[in-house]
Amino acid sequence: MSKKMKLLSLLFVILAVSFLAACGGSETGGSGSVSVGIVLPTRDEPRWVQDEQRFKDAIADTEYTTEILFSQGSSASEKENVETLLNRGIDVLIIAPHDGAAAGSAVEAAKDEGVTVIAYDRLITDTDAIDYYVTFDSVAVGAAQGQYLIDNSEGSGVPLYLYAGASSDNNAFLFFEGAWSVLQPKIADGTFVIANSSEATALQEQAELSREELSRILGQITTNWDPNEAKNKAETHLTAANAEQKGDVAILAPNDGTARSIADVFASDSEITHYLVTGQDAEKASVQYVIDDKQSMTVFKDVRTLVEDAMGMALDVLDGNTPETTGSYDNGSIDVPAKQTDVIVVDGDNVKQELIDSEYYEANEFSGL
Ligand code: BGC
Repeated sequence: MSKKMKLLSLLFVILAVSFLAACGGSETGGSGSVSVGIVLPTRDEPRWVQDEQRFKDAIADTEYTTEILFSQGSSASEKENVETLLNRGIDVLIIAPHDGAAAGSAVEAAKDEGVTVIAYDRLITDTDAIDYYVTFDSVAVGAAQGQYLIDNSEGSGVPLYLYAGASSDNNAFLFFEGAWSVLQPKIADGTFVIANSSEATALQEQAELSREELSRILGQITTNWDPNEAKNKAETHLTAANAEQKGDVAILAPNDGTARSIADVFASDSEITHYLVTGQDAEKASVQYVIDDKQSMTVFKDVRTLVEDAMGMALDVLDGNTPETTGSYDNGSIDVPAKQTDVIVVDGDNVKQELIDSEYYEANEFSGL
């Protein structure tokens, strides 16, 4: 081959590779080939990096091609991500929205192009442009957190500090609703005394709360899923607390990231003699906190199952089959067919069995197991 020919073939290879890269490397044709776009809310929380890794593991040995994009806590970036994926010709979109209501316009754009939309973990609200929802049982997550505080508290009049997720995330409502369903009778009978939310105290005789009532409480105790905001709120609450609101306390923290920062604040207050604090996600840092007795529990949501369900649904759709669902969720506009997964409570007693023996994590990732 002449030098010129060699250069030309090299150029051709470079062009072909860049073209494939621009297409997300997606091959088309053949009954098994798929093109699935995945949009996750942020890389800044270990929870979603965990999902990314599990998606990568799940597709590693298949012929399927996917592309995963992060929205970094911005609905505008999320919309751009969806548009990017639409330009790459995806057939199925799996999306965990940053803001469940704001994501409506992004998924409507996808539906307009005939793409099947699967909401992942977080529901997209007030739109009919969503086909399926794969989720954990989020009400059960909150109920497990509340029940843990009940089962592990002693005596009565225990100060109860309440924290919640972001109001833009439908899950934050479900988690709190689940927690309230078990905690409210124990607040009403005096086992717990709410220490940091006048809105929750005003509603403490009420077993069921409307969305609007939940919004009022969440407005007061939200962490926005931000560990820093959680830390600042916890500091403010402890500064305002009187002696009766200290001592042995119980803390409802919505997830691991916020639980660790709230726990650190309570641990550094000499008038707090003991605290119980909940969490969820089984993030590695919180698993270590549980082993070290700095966080009381976490709710383990096996992301492998959620990824398997979401990818399974996507493949069904691409093969022209109807995905199996187990129920539905009202998103304010339609009943979205849903597949739901159970959750597992993890504390110091079963952490090894649930997270190491199940091969979710490796023992050498932790100390003092
Ligand atoms: C997820 C949680 C997560 C939280 C903050 C929720 O929608 O279900 O697992 O901790 O968002 O990202």
